Amino acid sequence: MSRSLLIVAHCPSDNTLALKDAVIAGAAVPELDGVTARWLPPLSATADDVLAADAVILGTPENLGYMSGALKDFFDRIYYPCLECTQGLPYALYVRAGHDGTGTRRAIESIVTGLRWRAVRPPLILKGAWQPAFLDAAQDLGLAMAASLDAGLI
Ligand SMILES: Cc1cc2nc3c(=O)[nH]c(=O)nc-3n(C[C@H](O)[C@H](O)[C@H](O)COP(=O)(O)O)c2cc1C
Repeated sequence: MSRSLLIVAHCPSDNTLALKDAVIAGAAVPELDGVTARWLPPLSATADDVLAADAVILGTPENLGYMSGALKDFFDRIYYPCLECTQGLPYALYVRAGHDGTGTRRAIESIVTGLRWRAVRPPLILKGAWQPAFLDAAQDLGLAMAASLDAGLI
């Protein structure tokens, strides 16, 4: 049975769109045919989407020291419907930050600690001036999550 990787990422710029595409490309390598990766913008993702997922990748820019409003809205809507049912859900996080990223990381880690989701990768903080290497890191993240799911490691 195919395992489901849900990518919930807010992409308000060309660079954040490219990061999301790189995550998907990493997760969609043909060798990992036991995994289905799907991206949803946070404003479209529902609790049912999370309940159907075997793992989640969260992605957001840092705005004013915090996650995007869209990702916060996602958490506000899914928190209680998921709270009793998704404990232990493997997740990973990436943040595109102009210069910092710590406020966003802290806020998201606080929420997912409440949900009792399980971090299976260190947070990926892509900060500072844009670098093409960020795309490689995003692709590696997607690949690592999909490979771990495919191998039954998470
Ligand atoms: C209103 C606004 C607030 C921002 N606040 C922060 C911030 O608090 N910390 C930070 O590191 N970057 C901040 N940034 C920069 C964004 O994180 C960055 O522009 C965004 O991730 C998009 O990246 P890109 O320019 O490579 O597409 C802010 C950008 C905007 C437009």
